[in-house]
Parts: sequence; structure tokens; C-alpha cells
Amino acid sequence: MSSITVTPIAPALGAEISGVDLRKPLAADDLAAIKRAWSDHLVLRFRGQLLSDPELMALSRSFGELDPPGPNPYGKPFLTEFPEINVISNVKKDGVPIGNLGDGEAVWHCDMTYIETPPMAAMLHALDVPPSGGDTYWANMYMAYETLPAELKQAIAGRRAIHDATYNSAGMMRKGMKEVTDPREAPGAHHPLVVRHPETGRAALYLGRRRNSYILGLPLDESNALLDELWAHATQPEFTFRQEWKLHDLILWDNRCTLHRRDAFDPSVSRIMHRTQIKGIATIPYEQAGTVAA
Ligand code: OGA
Ligand code: MN
Repeated sequence: MSSITVTPIAPALGAEISGVDLRKPLAADDLAAIKRAWSDHLVLRFRGQLLSDPELMALSRSFGELDPPGPNPYGKPFLTEFPEINVISNVKKDGVPIGNLGDGEAVWHCDMTYIETPPMAAMLHALDVPPSGGDTYWANMYMAYETLPAELKQAIAGRRAIHDATYNSAGMMRKGMKEVTDPREAPGAHHPLVVRHPETGRAALYLGRRRNSYILGLPLDESNALLDELWAHATQPEFTFRQEWKLHDLILWDNRCTLHRRDAFDPSVSRIMHRTQIKGIATIPYEQAGTVAA
């Protein structure tokens, strides 16, 4: 019998898991209970867990194969010893950033959807947190799809969008990219706007990020108008939960059915997160039923 406790954080998504020590290999029944809670709540929070980098990697591997971080603006891994780990931080050492995303807002996004096989999940572990600011929000994209007005469901059925690779969520240009003036020409993967979650079989709205997004086959102005409506709907507060970070929090999220964003914070305080990603598979259009054992 598993000893873990699952406490929902918000009506839309998010649950806190307690009664487990994540530094040790998870017992099979605890892992099964965590996976069940994850499937139900999409984002899990564990408090008061201080993991070393190897412990964070070992824990992540119990959910799947590690997926190395995408290219950062500086062109080399932040942790040379553990290139599988990404660092999210505003801290600079000798004038050089030790991590990504700075101290500004990170706009709503889903991680790395500009590639064909985006990570299925990510873990963010708080090693230093500001006294306030830098809160992170997640939004439930099953709920966003389910509550979409019928005419919007109709308008996006069977359609795909471009997921621009040019900019990260903090607005920084990725290495090797050049400015995009026409979203129809943005580099990046084309994903269905409604995806089938490979494990639950449920439909999720799949938006990626707003900047330079484009719905293939539509005139640009129609695509922009429709995307604006979809984004306004998907990011309503009732579909979200807000994470006010405490030191040594660890968050695991499902990157296939959620979006996230982060508030800006005071540049003079330090925020350091170590982060892993878990490999995913190519997106599956919702209409393509029967392709997965859901
Ligand atoms: C990320 C991310 C937000 C944060 O790690 O993918 O968007 O709270 N981080 O720093
Ligand atoms: Mn992100």
C-alpha cells in the first residue's frame, strides 16, 4: 500500500504530493500512485525535497527517458557535468548568466513544441527563490478544449499551426535564428491544434506559444483573429493554478496538456531552478482515433 497523500491545489489542476522521500528510488506502489495523481491533476508539487543533480536525474528517469535541454542563447550547457540538466536562473557569475530566462516575465507557452517530438514532461526544482515574485502558473488544456464554444471547435477541427522556434518564452532569440517578419514563414514544427493525449486518450488544445503562431491554410488575418480568441479562452484564470515557490519545491508537469507562464521578479534577488525534461513522442491529432492504446 502506498503511503503518499494527494491534495488538490486548485479546481482546474495541480495537486500536492506528500509522504514520500524523492531522494530514494520510489517504491513501485508509490510510483504508481504518483502516476495516477499526475494523470488526474496534470501538475504535481512536492514540498521540502532537496535533491542533488544526480538525484533529480534519477527521479526524472522513473517517468521516462531524459530529454536534453534545447539550445540556450549562449550555445553551451549551463552545467557541464550534467548537460541533461537545464538551469533556469537570473544569476550571473563573473557577468555570465548561470541559467536561462532572466528575471522578466516568461509568457504563456508549452515547452519546445517547435520540434516534432516535444518533451512529454518537465521537472523544476527550486534551489533558490525570491521572497516574492517569479510565481509560475499552469493552465489545463483539456479543460480549455472541452469548454471551447462549438464554433471555435469547428473552426480548428483537423487544423494545424506553426510553432515558431525563433524566440524563447522570455523573448530572447534562440541561437542561430533570425527575426521573423511573417509568421507564415516562421521556422518550427507544425502540430495539430487539438491533440490526443497518448496516455489518457483525451483531447487537449495545443497552442504552443502565441508569438509568430500561424494556423496553416488560413489567411493571416483570420489566423491571427482565431488564435487571439483561442489564447484568450485558454488562459482564463479558472483554468489555471498559481505556484508561489518555496525553497526546495519540486514541480512535475505534463507538457502535453498544459501551458505555463512565469511572473517577472526583482532583478536584485536570486532565483535558481534546476530542471529536467522527459522525452515525448510525435503529437497525435485528436481525430486520429485508434492509433493509441488509451
Ligand atoms: C521552464 C519555465 C518557468 C519558471 O522551465 O520551462 O518556463 O518558473 N520556467 O522559471
Ligand atoms: Mn517553459
